[in-house]
Amino acid sequence: LTPAEIDARYAAVKSVAQEAARLGMDYYLRRQSLAVMHKGDDMQDVVSIADKEIETFIRAELTKRFPEDGFLGEEGGADDLDARCIWVIDPIDGTSCFVNGLHNWCVSIGLLVAGEPLLGAIADPNHDELFHGCRGRGAFVNDTPLKVSSAQDVREGVLGVGTTHRRGKENFIPFLQGLLNEGGMFLRNGSGALMTAYVAAGRLIGYYETDLKSWDCLAGLVLLKEAGGRVNDFFRNDGLLHGNPCLVACPGVYDQVARLIGPSLDQD
Ligand code: IPD
Ligand code: CA
Ligand code: CA
Ligand code: CA
Repeated sequence: LTPAEIDARYAAVKSVAQEAARLGMDYYLRRQSLAVMHKGDDMQDVVSIADKEIETFIRAELTKRFPEDGFLGEEGGADDLDARCIWVIDPIDGTSCFVNGLHNWCVSIGLLVAGEPLLGAIADPNHDELFHGCRGRGAFVNDTPLKVSSAQDVREGVLGVGTTHRRGKENFIPFLQGLLNEGGMFLRNGSGALMTAYVAAGRLIGYYETDLKSWDCLAGLVLLKEAGGRVNDFFRNDGLLHGNPCLVACPGVYDQVARLIGPSLDQD
């Protein structure tokens, strides 16, 4: 991509994520009237018309500007994955929070170019925070630059955690026990995208999820790298399409947390 092509996509991702978040807020304020549906048998895996409508909106806005680009989204699936630029979309990350009236949800949009995350934006309308970043240009919340924590030990801060009923939950409690044994503490807020952004912002020392999808974290991974953080080999074995365990952390605690997780982090 030329610098001008990157500029256009970076500007677009910020404005489209914010417009999508405003649309999400309209739905959120009248969430009592939204029917909550479940995906498959998992009663915890909820979705509403808001998720679908917001993704449709984002795809339409980006297609208008970049008709040659492809898409991968949680609700709409894959479209033209052979394209040079692929937008990876989570229209609402934190849907369970969204339908239950908890403010921890956001819109997450990342861009993959030739297989590498290039830029992304995470819009949190409840806290008026737009996290955004682009490779080589830094990462920001609104206009403030992001930098990961300087913690050197899990005792020095809070680690974000998450799990689901999809796969890997048997690794979760043993991990938490090990973390507590080493004097660490944890938080699960219900939005993997926001927790990844919080690691980039130095609010959390790291974030571990037993199984994450690429749309949950792709935008966040751009921020994380620009803010000086480390991530495991998340894209291995088709991680883009199927997901993988995910660990993001500040450099000072990455190895300690990876050891507490054990081989399940990077093995199948
Ligand atoms: C979920 C959230 C949650 C994480 C799950 C994700 P969704 O995404 O990120 O924090 O624990 O693994 O599926 O379904 O709310 O978009
Ligand atoms: Ca979901
Ligand atoms: Ca998600
Ligand atoms: Ca979602």
